[in-house]
Amino acid sequence: MPATPGSISFQTAALPVQGLPLAPAVYLVGAGPGDPELLTVKAQRLISQADVILYANSLVPEQILAWARPDAERLGTAAMTLENLLPLMIERVRAGRSVVRLQSGDPSLYSAIHEQIQALAEAEIPFEVVPGISAYQAAAAKLNAELTIPGLVQSIILTRISGRTQVPPREDLAALAAHQTSLCLYLSARHVEAAQAQLLQHYEADTPVAICFRLGWPDEQIWLVPLNAMAAATRDHHLVRTTVYLISPALRGGAVRSRLYSPDHTHLFRPKP
Ligand SMILES: C[S@@+](CC[C@H](N)C(=O)[O-])C[C@H]1O[C@@H](n2cnc3c(N)ncnc32)[C@H](O)[C@@H]1O
Repeated sequence: MPATPGSISFQTAALPVQGLPLAPAVYLVGAGPGDPELLTVKAQRLISQADVILYANSLVPEQILAWARPDAERLGTAAMTLENLLPLMIERVRAGRSVVRLQSGDPSLYSAIHEQIQALAEAEIPFEVVPGISAYQAAAAKLNAELTIPGLVQSIILTRISGRTQVPPREDLAALAAHQTSLCLYLSARHVEAAQAQLLQHYEADTPVAICFRLGWPDEQIWLVPLNAMAAATRDHHLVRTTVYLISPALRGGAVRSRLYSPDHTHLFRPKP
């Protein structure tokens, strides 16, 4: 039945009590881009309750671990392979312990959880995925930008350029650029010349590009440049990692108004007077 104003009821689980033991399971938790205040409340709670915390040393700031129990086992995973990581998680859960695996940003993007999930399911280990704030969302917020402006751009593409991980040919950057959407480019600083050349096949040379380095970290930097200066700026600042690019006509600014809050636009919650 469609909801009508006044008839909506939210099914909220009772708030968990801090300190209650977590069920033995693996929790694949998005830790956001860096700023500890961009963790979800759920992520913070899981961190504060977990028996074991696995985290990528280079991507998760120390402050986040400050919420962990003093007796929690903390393991940096930067030097581990999946072959080390999986048996470790499985063994801890089989021993009755709860394992929080912190992933940078949101786990749905470039986080290699797919293979972890498959292996955990095969081993009959319970797991849960908890979303986080992705780098592109943190970037848009820092830029005070909406990436979907009516009449200008209504779609966002999240992608990367082919590097050591091959992107399927049908997702070539040039092919995606043809749509001239807001485009968020991950994992591409090392191949920025190729990225710029492919984007220039369809975007205007002066399309704004935000080059966002280590968002949410104390050394965060953001440069706003035209597309034809994207590669040079990346090289000038020696950026090779932890950089996300936002390429978007929406970053030009200008006065455009959405219909959502317009007085002549009625909807379920704002019917005609
Ligand atoms: C392995 S991917 C992980 C992406 C992550 N799951 C997310 O949702 O943001 C790493 C890439 O994400 C982007 N990234 C992650 N954190 C970032 C940050 N704090 N600042 C800028 N870019 C970041 C960069 O493009 C980096 O090369």
